[in-house]
Amino acid sequence: MVEFRKFKSENISEIGLGTWQLGSSDWGDLNRETAFEILESFYNSGGNFIDTADVYGMGNSEKTIGSYIKESGNIFFIATKLGRRHDSPNGWPQNFEIDAMRRFTEESLNHLGIDQIYLQQLHCIPFDVLKKKAVFDHLRKLQEDKLIKYWGVSVETTEEALFCLEQEGIAAIQIIFNLFRQHVAEELFSKAREKNVALIIRVPLASGLLSGKFDEDTKFSTQDHRNYNANGEAFNVGETFSGIPFDRGLKLIPKIVEIMPQGNLAVLALRWILDHDAVSTVIPGASSPKQVKSNMSASEMANLPEEVHIKLRSLYDNEIKNFIRGPF
Ligand SMILES: NC(=O)c1ccc[n+]([C@@H]2O[C@H](COP(=O)([O-])OP(=O)(O)OC[C@H]3O[C@@H](n4cnc5c(N)ncnc54)[C@H](OP(=O)(O)O)[C@@H]3O)[C@@H](O)[C@H]2O)c1
Repeated sequence: MVEFRKFKSENISEIGLGTWQLGSSDWGDLNRETAFEILESFYNSGGNFIDTADVYGMGNSEKTIGSYIKESGNIFFIATKLGRRHDSPNGWPQNFEIDAMRRFTEESLNHLGIDQIYLQQLHCIPFDVLKKKAVFDHLRKLQEDKLIKYWGVSVETTEEALFCLEQEGIAAIQIIFNLFRQHVAEELFSKAREKNVALIIRVPLASGLLSGKFDEDTKFSTQDHRNYNANGEAFNVGETFSGIPFDRGLKLIPKIVEIMPQGNLAVLALRWILDHDAVSTVIPGASSPKQVKSNMSASEMANLPEEVHIKLRSLYDNEIKNFIRGPF
């Protein structure tokens, strides 16, 4: 079964579940039955921390989770996000005013069918808006009104993360960290630990690339962001393959395999993340219950040998770091 790590006064599963895939076409089609099987597999493996967002499938990810909770009676610590809705009547800047943030939160509560959101996160909103700090007051107000238990931010860069870490009352920072984005640990991890701020690790498998299952012939459907955003055509390139060009990523896989012990590469890539104590939970997304079960097994493994960490870091410094695209 999965191990747990501390998040404030709760124990959350160190492998969580990312649910961008549920009810959203950004990964191709995933039907409701499979979505329920994914959630069931996660719950049965001991998982209790789920990450979603109001924009995933424009509410469909939250609604699917809400229906599953209602039908199964199983409960989770749910982290959602706000700030990227494009259907808001007044447009982007108004998304960050208290009325809009309250409305988005109430809609998420409604979709999820729960009374309080465990963690509300700002969804990669512009740094300029973060710097004005009003959004943090709004989150504190939503917390005071008990709509949310904790609040945090999902960010793109270490600079943004370090800025947010200084904000009174912040509970969590969500950031991309994986074998293709190793430097993130350098400054942020020790500071987050000092301040007792949780670290939620997204895109841990570089959108599946780090499972080693893709090759030159792999084709993604036109609705899949690994097709339409492979080079950042639609949104931040870092959110797709964590910013590594697909063909370079493919060439790196055999080099990673050579360094790693024998085993399932996706599981080893997740284990590598868990070996960093400052990490609170890793949230791989999944397109099948089998993937969920396999990913959860990373929690049962022993840490990777130190020598493996050193070699993977050297590979990163010499052959990966300079090729990552997107702000970090
Ligand atoms: N801005 C933000 O805040 C933001 C941005 C991105 C993601 N997120 C969150 O972070 C979560 C995780 O990131 P992500 O889903 O983008 O990327 P990811 O976790 O790196 O990759 C997920 C994909 O990897 C493949 N996969 C997963 N487990 C596998 C296994 N055991 N074997 C083989 N392939 C496997 C699946 O691909 P196939 O579909 O090809 O099977 C799956 O869809 C998201 O679901 C979302 O909750 C947040």
